[in-house]
Amino acid sequence: MSFIIANHLTRQYDLSDPWIVRMLTSNKRKQLTAVDDVSFSIDKGTTYALVGESGSGKSTIAKMVVGLLAPSAGAITFDGKMINDETISKADRQRLRRRIQMVFQSPYASLNPRWAVGDILKEPIRAFGLFDSRADQDKRVNELLDQVGLSARDANKYPHEFSGGQRQRISIARALSSQPDVIICDEPTSALDVSVQAQVLNLLKTLQKEFSLTYLFISHDLAVVSTMANKIGVLNEGKLVEEAVPSQLFAKPENPYTKMLIDAVPDFGKV
Ligand SMILES: Nc1ncnc2c1ncn2[C@@H]1O[C@H](COP(=O)(O)OP(=O)(O)OP(=O)(O)O)[C@@H](O)[C@H]1O
Ligand SMILES: [Mg+2]
Repeated sequence: MSFIIANHLTRQYDLSDPWIVRMLTSNKRKQLTAVDDVSFSIDKGTTYALVGESGSGKSTIAKMVVGLLAPSAGAITFDGKMINDETISKADRQRLRRRIQMVFQSPYASLNPRWAVGDILKEPIRAFGLFDSRADQDKRVNELLDQVGLSARDANKYPHEFSGGQRQRISIARALSSQPDVIICDEPTSALDVSVQAQVLNLLKTLQKEFSLTYLFISHDLAVVSTMANKIGVLNEGKLVEEAVPSQLFAKPENPYTKMLIDAVPDFGKV
């Protein structure tokens, strides 16, 4: 059985005016279906990429997979257990939070600018009770910094003292600090220069091998996705319109929307 299964996931957003306005104007309720009956599965230790234009529903799916947002319909199963089940116990929910982490496009979203890097990395370690003594926590911080190509000295610095690429390494270290099984990467490199982008992608690949991590990798960039994914799902207006392994998707795209995305990448259709 797959490690992560998204089963007929649907998410609506209510864009209606407040009821009092609706009463006075007789405007109808407005619902936006941001994610529309999306199903996919991810095997342990592999990378599943979701590609699609802005507004296609990528982040909405990511939020449902980490449990930040409840689906309007459908469900997510992780390691044999339903994530959004109302009956899930508090302890199970805490365990899930530890096991599924997220890396965002903008490290500022996840890194508190007032905290030194060491404290940022220790926060999940403490919250999940992973190492009790201060000495062990410090050791773990050094280990995490080393794993993402930073040094122990960086623990005392603040996020603004780093470059964009280094800051993204800190976000990755923070995601790793709870020893997760799954990392959801939502456009992790789209704010970075191309050269730095490649380094961060390589780091993610190295870490995946080392810790058998499972990735849900979200990007609007097919070139990035082609180097990362075992399988690619193409999202268009909330619907999964095509799914294939990268070589097949690029050689023989079946859906017209996928073809359009491939043609939009300069020189990419020809490689
Ligand atoms: N909290 C919200 N309330 C209302 N509508 C929302 C909300 N969040 C997202 N949407 C809408 O849902 C749709 C999908 O948004 P989503 O953020 O999932 O897209 P995305 O593929 O991640 O886009 P991007 O590439 O720009 O990050 C969009 O039309 C968006 O405007
Ligand atoms: Mg998004």
